Amino acid sequence: MKLFVYHTPELTPTDQTPECAIAVDVLRATSTMATVLASGGEAVQVFSDLDQLLEVSEKWPAKHRLRAGERGGAKVAGFDLGNSPLDCTPELVQGRRLFISTTNGTRALKRVQDAPIVLTAALINRAAVVQFLLDQQPESVWIVGSGWEGSFSLEDTVCAGAIAHSILQHTQLSPAALAGNDEVISAIALYSQWQNNLLGLLHQASHGQRLLRLECHEDLKYCSQTDILDVLPIQQEPGVLKSQS
Ligand code: MLT
Repeated sequence: MKLFVYHTPELTPTDQTPECAIAVDVLRATSTMATVLASGGEAVQVFSDLDQLLEVSEKWPAKHRLRAGERGGAKVAGFDLGNSPLDCTPELVQGRRLFISTTNGTRALKRVQDAPIVLTAALINRAAVVQFLLDQQPESVWIVGSGWEGSFSLEDTVCAGAIAHSILQHTQLSPAALAGNDEVISAIALYSQWQNNLLGLLHQASHGQRLLRLECHEDLKYCSQTDILDVLPIQQEPGVLKSQS
C-alpha cells in the first residue's frame, strides 16, 4: 500500500486516480456524515451546488429526506440543518437520506468521486477506515483534505496523520515504505505532536476559530474525539455514501 496525502482538492492530481480515495473534512462535513450513518441515516448524498441539491431532493419523499446546507460555517436559510454533527441524532436521521452541501467538504468528495473506492474519514471514525485499508490492502490510497477555500487546514492534515500513524502501528511498514509523498511524513509528525491534545489543535486551526466565533464549541469537542464511531461511509454511486455493513 502506498499512501499519498493532498492538503486540498486543488492540490490533488487530475491526471491519475488511486484505487482508494478518502475525503477528509474534520470540521465538519465528514464528521457529520459519519454521525448520520452511525445514527441510522439511510444514506448521505453530497452536492457542491445548493440549487442542484434542492432540485434532486425535491424528488425524494419529504418524510425520508433532510436537507443540510452550510456556507461560511453557518446554516443556509431554508434548509433543515446546517453542518453540526450534534444535530444528527438517531431520532432525527433514522431511515432518512441527508442531502448535504458544505463550503469545502463536499467539493473534496466530488474531486475524487471517480476512484473505484471512495470513503470519507474524520477523527471520530478513523479506526473503521484504517481497518478497511488493512483488510483490503488497496495498492494506492489518496487522502484528500478539504482545507478552506483552497488553503491548508490543520484539522484535515492531522486526521491524515492519524490514519497513517495507525497503519504504521498495525503493520511492519516503515514511514518511508508507506509514504507516497512528503505530505504523509509531515502529517504523521503533526499527529504525533498533537495526538494527546487534538481539541487544542482544533482551537488553533483557523476554521476552528471561525466555528468558535459562531458558538460551535461543542462541535469542536465532538469532532476532536478519536475512534468513537464504528462506521465506514463508502460511496455506492457518485455522490452517494452509505454505511458499509
Ligand atoms: C466545509 O465543508 O467547509 C465545512 O464542513 C464547514 C463547516 O464547518 O460547516
